[in-house]
Amino acid sequence: MKLTKLFTTLALAATALFVPANANAASKSGDFTVGKGTFLLNGEPFIVKAAEVHYPRIPQAYWDHRIKMCKALGMNTVCIYVFWNIHEQSEDHFDFTGNNDVAAFCRLAQKNGMYVIVRPGPYVCAEWEMGGLPWWLLKKKDIRLREQDPYFMERVKIFEEKVAQQLAPLTIQNGGPIIMVQVENEYGSYGEDKAYVSEIRDVLKANWYKKNDEGKLVGPALFQCDWSSNFTKNGLDDLVWTMNFGTGANIDQQFRRLGELRPDAPKMCSEFWSGWFDKWGARHETRPAKDMVEGMDEMLSKGISFSLYMTHGGTSFGHWAGANSPGFAPDVTSYDYDAPINEWGLATPKFYELRKMMTKYNDGKKMPAIPKAPMGIISVPKFQLTEYVPIVNGINRVFKDSQSSHMTFEEMDMGWGSAVYTKVLPEIPNQSTLTLDAHDFATVFINGKYIGKIDRVKNEKSVALPPVKKGDRLTILIEAMGRINFGRAIKDFKGIVGDVVISTELDNNEVSINLKGFVTCTIPDDYNTAVKAFASEAKENISNDLGLPAGKGKAGYYRGYFNLKKVGDTFLDFETWGKGQVYVNGHAMGRIWSIGPQQTLYIPGCWLKKGKNEVIVLDVVGPKETVVWGQTEPELNKLQLEKSNKHNNIGDKPDLNSMTPVAKGAFKSGNGWQTVKFGQAAKGRYLAIESSSLHNGTDVAAIAELYVQGTNGQRLSREPWTTKYADSEDENGNHTGDKVYDLQESTYWQTIKGAGFPHLLVIDLGSVQTISALEYLPRAEQGAPGSIKDYKIFVY
Ligand code: GLA
Ligand code: CA
Repeated sequence: MKLTKLFTTLALAATALFVPANANAASKSGDFTVGKGTFLLNGEPFIVKAAEVHYPRIPQAYWDHRIKMCKALGMNTVCIYVFWNIHEQSEDHFDFTGNNDVAAFCRLAQKNGMYVIVRPGPYVCAEWEMGGLPWWLLKKKDIRLREQDPYFMERVKIFEEKVAQQLAPLTIQNGGPIIMVQVENEYGSYGEDKAYVSEIRDVLKANWYKKNDEGKLVGPALFQCDWSSNFTKNGLDDLVWTMNFGTGANIDQQFRRLGELRPDAPKMCSEFWSGWFDKWGARHETRPAKDMVEGMDEMLSKGISFSLYMTHGGTSFGHWAGANSPGFAPDVTSYDYDAPINEWGLATPKFYELRKMMTKYNDGKKMPAIPKAPMGIISVPKFQLTEYVPIVNGINRVFKDSQSSHMTFEEMDMGWGSAVYTKVLPEIPNQSTLTLDAHDFATVFINGKYIGKIDRVKNEKSVALPPVKKGDRLTILIEAMGRINFGRAIKDFKGIVGDVVISTELDNNEVSINLKGFVTCTIPDDYNTAVKAFASEAKENISNDLGLPAGKGKAGYYRGYFNLKKVGDTFLDFETWGKGQVYVNGHAMGRIWSIGPQQTLYIPGCWLKKGKNEVIVLDVVGPKETVVWGQTEPELNKLQLEKSNKHNNIGDKPDLNSMTPVAKGAFKSGNGWQTVKFGQAAKGRYLAIESSSLHNGTDVAAIAELYVQGTNGQRLSREPWTTKYADSEDENGNHTGDKVYDLQESTYWQTIKGAGFPHLLVIDLGSVQTISALEYLPRAEQGAPGSIKDYKIFVY
């Protein structure tokens, strides 16, 4: 007992020493380097306590407040990504002004006595449209993203030069606040390509480094961030290696491999996840404050640097929210992240717990004060959006493509928005099936009558058509959501991708018709298009010609107003609306979708005004009621689903008694990956894992990630995977079956207490595969809670 106490006191004293007396951001030239077991700030040991915040996710008027909030947590640094696609929205047109003025953001941090870590990509992930890459790169169809593709690299170089023009004058060497710059982002979860990562490093070095008076090349510390399980794949000898992991993770385990390879290196968790992001159609994610604070306390007590991702998440305004993969899991507009500072900038209970702990590591000094919020919260009374024009009023360009079956948004030179694809049909006397790959949400009409939808989120690919007469008009309205920001699927074209096929039975023969020659109309997603839509009369005749229904309650633009005596932050509730985009006073506020879990949008008071305020909703489905009301708190956790997310349909449960397992045995206890090689390769479409006991003696089983290997030991793609059956899923914590193949080691499938053994998870691999082994990862937390002991694996 006594010994442990003495140890903690010693450790505390040691960390206190690490923080230099003058831990204020430099204004004179200085340096930040790597010493033995620690970073060195102007030669003194230094622990980075960074707060991740994203400038485009915060209105510029609130930047100062949010930085001060981070400081009040005892942080000494802010960590930012640079989002290529918000700065170069069309090729060669750069914008570093206003809310995009990243240099002003860094100077503001410095003014507040904070250092800055810059993560300029080019790829950033961040639940941001295409992981920060500009969509127009996809106009070159065969481009290889995040590889040494000549065009990709050419554009990267131009962009990184522009970023450095803005930010390199602000390095610590130049008297600014920037101490570290990141090379690429978690490349290990994308591939293995040291040549590419080296080239990115060289591009950054060329732009950020310069010769000092002694002729030595100097610049900010360049680092890589990855997971402990894969950082060696792309780790470059001359870069700092940092690890990313989340609340609850076993910290010693996370740094074990680094310690073996580089025993003298300083340790840093470059992304310590405070919470998690939300996707449409699933519950709001939270992580316990206690676990987060304990993890950070442990790191500080061991002299480990960190960046808390997110300290303040903010909002993915407009169309900037991305989507996760495998599968297609678009992120909601709110990026609250269950972070200590909530979406609208206020302190949460997590904030206060963290602040209390951080006081111990504040060098005996008083913590900086918590700043007053720039605006109060107001409530807006209910109001109606009475003005309406049909969606065709937003049409910008019309393409008649007789050659191909369709055009993607990229081929039509449109980044974001919707498109109408329409075509006259031949006679099809029987019922048929229309099959197409809709990116991302399609509503299908015949002669203006609604037939059905194809929702990529649900992996839907087809819709049943009634018999049609020659000359009937098929119309498909497609709305694009955010481009995928994670994994190989970031090459995410929008609109109709691939063939459009009608298959039916004619005289007892299967026939399929590959439809070509659509007329396609673009409806860009931006405020100008929306106001212009109201500038002319409702074009109901055009709606009719294109085979779209018109009239209130249908897809279209809706406009209304509310009056304010006093401005303030507020939340507008859109739960009676279908799906689409909202603009307030010309600002794109973000996506809405009735399925939830997010039902309100955060409306910053700095974008409101006294008197009349305008609200436009572009609804691609149509509202139930055209009403909007204000709330003083957000609604981030209200699902309105057609059917539950669970996979416990008894008809999907295999009869395992009649099958022989391809492998059975017991997993080892503890964290980290384990591989089970099958005695013989097995063929089948479904993979079932049954567990009859756990290492911790409870009945709550969990699995963080699974892979299967093909016959050559290579991992098979999980892109087509879906969950077929799970005996139990803790849906409240979002621990559903899909979490075992979401490419995130910190998320997991977990059963509910008391559900009883055996536990069973069945994955549909999408098609018949030959499998030789299974790779299994238990939860990342200390002791791997819920890790499976006795298992049986079936392939059928
Ligand atoms: C990774 C990425 C981040 C973010 C988080 C999840 O760590 O590096 O950009 O996507 O996952 O929030
Ligand atoms: Ca996972």
